[in-house]
Amino acid sequence: TPRVFSGIQPTNHLQLGNYLGAVKRFVAMQNDGMETIYCIVDQHAITANFQNPADLRHATRELAAAYLACGLDPAKSILFNQSQVPAHSQLAWVFNCVARMGWLNRMTQFKDKAGKNAEKASLGLYAYPSLMAADILVYHATHVPVGDDQKQHVELTRDIAAKFNHDYGVEFFPETQPIIEGAATRVMSLRDGTKKMSKSDPSDASRINLTDDADTIAKKIRKAKTDPEPLPETTEGLADRPEARNLVNIYAALAEITPAQVLAEHGGSQFGSFKPALADLAVDKLAPISTEMSRLMGDTAEIDRVLAAGAERAAAIADPIIAKTYDIVGFVR
Ligand code: TYM
Repeated sequence: TPRVFSGIQPTNHLQLGNYLGAVKRFVAMQNDGMETIYCIVDQHAITANFQNPADLRHATRELAAAYLACGLDPAKSILFNQSQVPAHSQLAWVFNCVARMGWLNRMTQFKDKAGKNAEKASLGLYAYPSLMAADILVYHATHVPVGDDQKQHVELTRDIAAKFNHDYGVEFFPETQPIIEGAATRVMSLRDGTKKMSKSDPSDASRINLTDDADTIAKKIRKAKTDPEPLPETTEGLADRPEARNLVNIYAALAEITPAQVLAEHGGSQFGSFKPALADLAVDKLAPISTEMSRLMGDTAEIDRVLAAGAERAAAIADPIIAKTYDIVGFVR
């Protein structure tokens, strides 16, 4: 039976790319009646840079508030943070012994995050994709909604599952499908249409944060980088115009229409009129989320209760899978 799993790192505030590429689609899959498990991957959050403990706690609760404010419902989805379910790191160790160095050496996100001096990167950053494979497979999840940048990690997950099954001669871990759909699988920076929008970009003007208020959202869109041409009439006309394409894609994803439909309505318009239309749409869709997040953050004890209850339900699925994995591997218990 299909089972959906995905996760987001609690580092900095969520940005529009995380919302359109991930959370909005998490909600859609939940509301389609699929079995859905959504994680806050706090163990991944400490792999790249030193995280101040107070900041990590805050970011974890804020991400939980974002999940809830965007429409994830703890009665329909399992919502929890990774470190409360030890089965993730238990399976990750087994996968560290299944995955090959050569496979991890090919991971583009490691190269991007480690930068020029890989010797200074943490061992955890290197092993990150193995923990991610464990996140998914400890639930035998079959569908993983993610943005485009996570495709390679989900493919590695399939390779790890296949090698485990092959080495031990079992049909135990399923083949996982990445679900990368819609107009916003790769939302780009508002300052540079060739760079991905990111929580960690030093320029706050490059992104829209889910915590931004209405004025800030509108201002960032008004100031977004664009070229001087009017919008084209068809999507082919966006080919060499990364900034224009990005704004059209954002509009399409927010309005839940296709880029072609956006251009049917706005083709020929100057950015002077398209940007205010996009700003109105973005404020309309996003400002209620930031208001609801602030309200939820007023009661962090309630958020912690939601996460603890979710962790209990997650462990009830993961623990038998770990027990079976240990039997397969030959660990005596
Ligand atoms: P993270 O925290 O970097 O991002 C969370 C989700 O947001 C998507 N995303 C984007 N989508 C479109 N445009 C963008 N500019 C953009 N930026 C980010 C990401 O693709 C992702 O879906 N490794 C994962 C977290 C993770 C995970 C997992 C995901 C850990 N375990 C298991 C799925 C399944 C990550 O760092 O995502």
